[in-house]
Amino acid sequence: MATASSVSHVFPLASRVNERGRLEVGGCDLVELAREFGTPAYVVAEDDLRARARAFRSAGAQAGHEDFHVVFASKAFPCTAVLEVFAQEGLWCDVASEGELHLALAAGFRGERIVLHGNAKSPQELQMALQAKVGLIVIDNHDEIDHLQRLLAERDGAIQQVLVRLTPDVRGDTHEKISTGQADSKFGFAMDEAHEVISRVQSVDGLELVGVHAHIGSQIFQLDPFVRSARALSEAFDFPVLDVGGGLAVAYTTDQHPPPIEDFVTCVIAATTRHGAGSGRRLLIEPGRALVANAGVTLYTVQSVKRKVSHWVAVDGGMSDNLRPMLYGSVYEAHVVERPGGSSECVLAGKHCESGDVIVRHALLQDPKAGDVIVTPATGAYGYAMANNYNGVLRAPVIFCRDGQAREVVRRETLDDLTARDVR
Ligand SMILES: Cc1ncc(COP(=O)(O)O)c(C=O)c1O
Repeated sequence: MATASSVSHVFPLASRVNERGRLEVGGCDLVELAREFGTPAYVVAEDDLRARARAFRSAGAQAGHEDFHVVFASKAFPCTAVLEVFAQEGLWCDVASEGELHLALAAGFRGERIVLHGNAKSPQELQMALQAKVGLIVIDNHDEIDHLQRLLAERDGAIQQVLVRLTPDVRGDTHEKISTGQADSKFGFAMDEAHEVISRVQSVDGLELVGVHAHIGSQIFQLDPFVRSARALSEAFDFPVLDVGGGLAVAYTTDQHPPPIEDFVTCVIAATTRHGAGSGRRLLIEPGRALVANAGVTLYTVQSVKRKVSHWVAVDGGMSDNLRPMLYGSVYEAHVVERPGGSSECVLAGKHCESGDVIVRHALLQDPKAGDVIVTPATGAYGYAMANNYNGVLRAPVIFCRDGQAREVVRRETLDDLTARDVR
């Protein structure tokens, strides 16, 4: 291929096929990256992360909301370097464990910009959050109120601002395992318990209830469920803070077209506005995947190709670096980096000892051979986050690319890392 061309919207912004006919991300040739850093590897276009963060923030400003904040759901990509980018871009951070809190603090988020979530927070996690002076703790259950009451009593005069998490009984059209807004979700309180819980929280010394929260689920393509959930909270409660969660869908494959970030922000602002933008109330949203999924791709190397009933192409990663196909039947696409596009239907299989370890069931690849570098786009969310060592596989590095420069921000695990926690 002699001239460069652009690629589908599943790839990071400004990705292209270069003059050598190879896919390029952040100005870096993916074959060269595979040679330099090895595979599997997570490759992230830093400019793409920043552009999406700015799109969310500027949509809020465009809508005229003066107290609108974008809280990155760090579970989507809990990596210090990614968090640092978002801290620099003025985002807040949602954490759901002491580990995520540790990462957020290490990345430079100030405590007041951190929101602590979780349906099973331990007293230790709550203590750490109080010590870090996190801005908000989102209360999920009565036992947590007991823990907070005890911990605050030990910290004479300490005040912690909190939200109460509610399930508004709004369902998005998404996978059951990532649907959280239904009345019987494991998260939060049902709407009909809200007033009793609110009174209880208001009666605890040291807890300052400033608002309510709902997150109805993830990978939701329609704006209507977000609007219904945001409106339900906004109309039922008159608190200074409203947190309407995350969940905006992303394109994992070229045929998917989620709503633009701007439309999502405009809708939730309109749904929560009574008299003019914001009407003095602070509005938080918590996007995870919509900030990171399309900023990242994963590189693999083909280890073997065989034809049985199907045309099997096996690579050097799989469910250890991307668990989503196994967990939710998530669909991705794949390309041979040197020959993008293709029409030969293959099964892109992982290397793990599970028949279900298939990365892409219906991959269209062009003439895949052992040694080829394969890329799966849209793997920036919940891939690194759910990485594991199944079969003793070493977790993959994270490579940031920008303007043709690549830098490793997380190194590949070593065999010594696998035995580092052994106690003999
Ligand atoms: C409370 C909360 N907020 C935000 C998110 C982010 O969801 P998504 O990555 O789909 O935007 C999640 C995901 O699990 C969540 O539980």
